[in-house]
Amino acid sequence: MKSIKDIKNLSGKKVIVRVDFNVPMNNGKILDDFRIEKAIPTISFLQKKGAKVVLISHLGKDGKESLLPIADKVKKYIKNFSFVSSPILSEETERRLNLLKKGEVVLLENLRSEQGEEKNSPSFARSISRYGDIYVNDAFSVSHREHASIVGIIKYLPGYAGLQLLEEVKMLSVAFNPKHPFLFILGGVKFETKIPLIKKYLKKAENIFIGGAIANDFFKAKGFEVGTSVVSENVLQVKPLLRQKNLILPTDVLVTKDNKKYFVKPDEVKIDEKIVDCGPETIRVLENLVKKSKFILWNGPLGKYEGGFGGATEDLIKIIAKSKTENILGGGDTVAIISKLKLEKKLGFVSTGGGATLDFLGKGMLPGIRVLK
Ligand code: 3PG
Repeated sequence: MKSIKDIKNLSGKKVIVRVDFNVPMNNGKILDDFRIEKAIPTISFLQKKGAKVVLISHLGKDGKESLLPIADKVKKYIKNFSFVSSPILSEETERRLNLLKKGEVVLLENLRSEQGEEKNSPSFARSISRYGDIYVNDAFSVSHREHASIVGIIKYLPGYAGLQLLEEVKMLSVAFNPKHPFLFILGGVKFETKIPLIKKYLKKAENIFIGGAIANDFFKAKGFEVGTSVVSENVLQVKPLLRQKNLILPTDVLVTKDNKKYFVKPDEVKIDEKIVDCGPETIRVLENLVKKSKFILWNGPLGKYEGGFGGATEDLIKIIAKSKTENILGGGDTVAIISKLKLEKKLGFVSTGGGATLDFLGKGMLPGIRVLK
């Protein structure tokens, strides 16, 4: 991929930068601005070179949310910045962009307010491409989507990779040739989407630990009762994986029932209990594995973090932060917990991606990267 540093004479050029400002929000309030922070180096670089910077992003799934609260946050990081609140495809937006001066940065409204974005419609891609002379992708975390602003736009403009995108690719690629012993930790939900990844890393890693809701599928496949816990539709595919010696499951779990919570062994869960997190014994197992390993790759929380069960995930983050083992961490919720604990600087590389990180680790490529090659 060509980097933004390869662009000659940026002064006065209008540069469209696809960023991912899809940050966790609650009632219009930003819960974590990690992704915004990570986009700043690219924006500042272009600004200092005298480019006119046009930021484009989505927020949420249905395109109904405004990027205004995001703009208020970006303002704190970037001087000479403003928000264009008019519809993304409108004369007013065009007029504002024609008035842009060197070093100025603007953020446009939610890309997904136009259906053409997710449909990768050529006419939408062409329309937004008219807003700039050069296209930059600095949105690694959405580069697994074949959307107009990620893939389609490249037909109409010369395309470059932003600094965060390059950093993500460089750092995550370390996992393709890791130091050994290698510990892979996978949590979160959606077992189906993670099967290829589990299969791939069972061959690469000395140890692979499964936590989060996906561990429930393994318990069910073992014939254990999982009560009212979250499980996938199809546990048939799990069974053959149980034979793998390097696959490690939690040895104790936190369950809830009638507003009570307590630790039990996975084979002791009752029909009216719900598994929500890993237990302290499991954390001790993981602590030992961390000590013994030379490289750790971790994606997805160990418990139902969004329901208030982030205990095991927090404990493990602290253990890794204290350890000397090289590490790469990712997955939306894991990142939110790292930010809350303010431990980012004590960790190795923290990926901005959720689904994109999983896809990249599984396939070694993403559509948004392929088009830049
Ligand atoms: C993410 O949060 O993973 C990215 O912003 C992509 O969002 P999406 O899953 O709604 O496409």
